[in-house]
Amino acid sequence: MTDTLEKPIEKAEGAAPDQGLAAAPKRLFIKTYGCQMNVYDSERMADVLRPLGYAPTDAPEGADFVILNTCHIRERAAEKVYSELGKLKQMRERKVARGDGGMTIAVAGCVAQAEGEEIMKRQPAVDLVVGPQAYHQLPELLTRTARARGERIGADFAPHEKFDALTPKMIATRGGEGPTAFLTVQEGCDKFCTFCVVPYTRGAEWSRPAAAVLAEARALADRGVREVTLLGQNVNAYDGEGPDGKPSTLARLAYALAEIPGLDRIRYTTSHANDMSDDLIAAHADLDALMPYLHLPVQAGSDRVLRLMNRKHGRQKYIDLIARIRTARPDMAIAGDFIVGFPGETDRDFEDTLDLVRQVTYAGAFSFVYSPRPGTPAATMAGQVEEGVALERLHRLQALLFEQQTAFNAAQTGKTLNVLFEKKGRYDRQAIGRSPYLQAVHVEAADHLLGQIVPVEIVSGAQNSLNGRLVDQGTI
Ligand code: SAH
Ligand code: SF4
Ligand code: F3S
Repeated sequence: MTDTLEKPIEKAEGAAPDQGLAAAPKRLFIKTYGCQMNVYDSERMADVLRPLGYAPTDAPEGADFVILNTCHIRERAAEKVYSELGKLKQMRERKVARGDGGMTIAVAGCVAQAEGEEIMKRQPAVDLVVGPQAYHQLPELLTRTARARGERIGADFAPHEKFDALTPKMIATRGGEGPTAFLTVQEGCDKFCTFCVVPYTRGAEWSRPAAAVLAEARALADRGVREVTLLGQNVNAYDGEGPDGKPSTLARLAYALAEIPGLDRIRYTTSHANDMSDDLIAAHADLDALMPYLHLPVQAGSDRVLRLMNRKHGRQKYIDLIARIRTARPDMAIAGDFIVGFPGETDRDFEDTLDLVRQVTYAGAFSFVYSPRPGTPAATMAGQVEEGVALERLHRLQALLFEQQTAFNAAQTGKTLNVLFEKKGRYDRQAIGRSPYLQAVHVEAADHLLGQIVPVEIVSGAQNSLNGRLVDQGTI
């Protein structure tokens, strides 16, 4: 399923003629699909291309280099890439016709890893295909593309090379983007849930050394970042090398990060129930910087379906785990992921999922209809569920989850929460920030509060956001 290194391809017509170290700024457009790890990777791609004179632009029209950073998790996500490529091809033709130079088109991310060869066949306008572990090679690939022959490159799953090439210095030279940032600490997955492509597109679990993570976090804090979200496909399986040369844990990493001046909030996502260790639960009890929000997907509430999914834990273990977490941190907001219509899921199994949701009570959740992915075991399992049935289940599940989310938000009314202001709102003198529980909070406040953490009294809560007013009205 994975394509590996370097096969020459025909160069598509109109690719940008000059990708050398030229002085004039070139326009780079990156479109990101999928998870936060792709968002982080897109920023890193912009970082490695900046020294080559590429500056980000916010539309593909007129761009000299367009990268689609793709997601393979569900069929619809993967198919979007091809319709987007068709549009880019036309845009490039118009650009060339205008005499405005060419446009290099690259496909990066998980579709690139899973279907590299096929992308080239289905859309010959693509100049470059680059897998998620090979972004540090982009400058070299670009130069080679410019030398009249395109190259395609997959990944050989050597994530350390990618991260080694991305230095804190690059972060220091980046433009300011606000007080929050993603920071990838772990990549890949060894769990092999039967429905999921991630172990194939991102490779085996691998963690960055703690020193590298801390250096990057310090560079972010120096730039004014107040909150980092540590990222990994299995972030709580983090076991990067610690200062003593031995494997660290996510909890130890969180303690070290909390020491960095200016870094007031630490989040992490996404976790697996089996890696939710005692030291991490304890860290939630005594580390103020560790935010009381945990994304802990369960996918289904029936033991039979959990077994078929190869989730490696049962329903009761998950429910007990949530109880232990809430003992350590009573106000912990729990978020989840769910899949309905997994092969073999009966009405009874689905009722078990609804029952689990009622027992756990979620502050938010993502829920999906099962999408068969080529090459995964579940795609050929017996008992594929009819789409209509799956959709009906999705609607019922979402109604319950939205009800819980709305109740969780409404329950904040009257409380005072610390809000990190991130951006201006739609209206004049309105600022939007995040509560410790990751809720969006709308407040009447002046711009100078952006980047600050300020107490806010919550006035009301709806399904997707809260309204509040500054406790200290003098700062409006
Ligand atoms: N590592 C995380 C999730 C990674 S993928 C975990 O273990 O939970 C993000 C979410 O996409 C998953 O939690 C799952 O709910 C959903 N997903 C993954 N594969 C899917 C598929 N084939 N069909 C539908 N949803 C899927
Ligand atoms: Fe996919 Fe399962 Fe790994 Fe999560 S734990 S990334 S769902 S295989
Ligand atoms: Fe999608 Fe790859 Fe992330 S498949 S969800 S972009 S790891």
